[in-house]
Amino acid sequence: MIISGKELSARLKADMAAEVATFPAKYGRVPHLAVILVGDDPGSVSYVTGKAKASAEVGIRNTTLRKPAETTEAELLEIIARLNADAEVDGILVQLPLPKHINEERVIAAIDKTKDVDGFHPLNVAALWQKQPCTLPCTPKGIIKMLKAAGVEIAGREAVVVGRSNIVGLPVAKLLLDENATVTVAHSRTRDLGAVTRRAGILVVAIGRPKFVTADMVSEGAVVIDVGVNRDPATGKLCGDVDYAAIEPKASVITPVPGGVGPMTICCLMENTIECFLKKQQ
Ligand code: GUN
Repeated sequence: MIISGKELSARLKADMAAEVATFPAKYGRVPHLAVILVGDDPGSVSYVTGKAKASAEVGIRNTTLRKPAETTEAELLEIIARLNADAEVDGILVQLPLPKHINEERVIAAIDKTKDVDGFHPLNVAALWQKQPCTLPCTPKGIIKMLKAAGVEIAGREAVVVGRSNIVGLPVAKLLLDENATVTVAHSRTRDLGAVTRRAGILVVAIGRPKFVTADMVSEGAVVIDVGVNRDPATGKLCGDVDYAAIEPKASVITPVPGGVGPMTICCLMENTIECFLKKQQ
C-alpha cells in the first residue's frame, strides 16, 4: 500500500477551506500566516511557494517576506518583533536553514510562542516533551496523521527513526512514543545501522541522503515513511532517503517522494495556523 500524502492532504485542505470560509462571519477575518525567507536557496524558495499556494487553497491570508541573503540577524529580529506585535498576524514561520551568519536559535526563540506555527520555540518543544498542550511540529504531526489514515497500528510496535534533528527525528520519536510504540533513534554514528533498521515494524527515515536506506536494511512487511527530499545524483530527479523502487515490494506500507510526507507537512502548517488563530478568538 502506498500512502498518498498528496491525496490525504487535499482532503484535509478541503475540510479546512470549508471551516475557514465560516470565519469572516464569525470572527471578522481569516487567519494570517507570515512566512520569512532569507536568501534564495532553491529548495527553500520552492517550500515557501508551496506554503503560499496551500494558504490560497485553504483561504488563509499569506504574507511572504523575501529578504536578501545578506540580511543581518538584527534586521531579521526586527521583522519578527514587528510581526509579533501585529494583532492581525496569527502565525510566523522563518524558513530554515538560515544563512550561516544568523543564529537560528535566537531567531526561533524571538518568535511569539502563540504564533509559532512550526512548533520550534523552546517553550513549545518543552511542552511537547512534557505532554502538555502545544503546537506540534508540522512534519512529525503529518507523519502520525498518515500512519493513522492508513490504519497502521502503532501501539506496541518497534519504531525506528533514522535521524535526530530538532525538526523531524526527535519530535517524531516523541510522538511515536506517545502513541505507545517502542522507539529507537538511530543516526549517522549508529553501529550496524542495518541490524537496527531491520528490527523496525515502522521505519521513519529523515537523514537527508538520497536512497540511503537500501532494501537489505528493511524487513518484509515494514511500514516505511520517507521524509527525505533529495536530488538523485544519477538522474537529477527528486528522490527520498530510501531506495523506493527496491523497498516498495517488501514494505506493507510506504510513502512516495514526491507526494508523500511533503504535502502533509504543508497541510499541518495550515492546521497549526488555524489553531493559533482560533486560540486568539476565545
Ligand atoms: N526547513 C525544512 N523544514 C522546515 C520546516 O518544517 N519549517 C521551517 N521553518 N523550515 C524548514
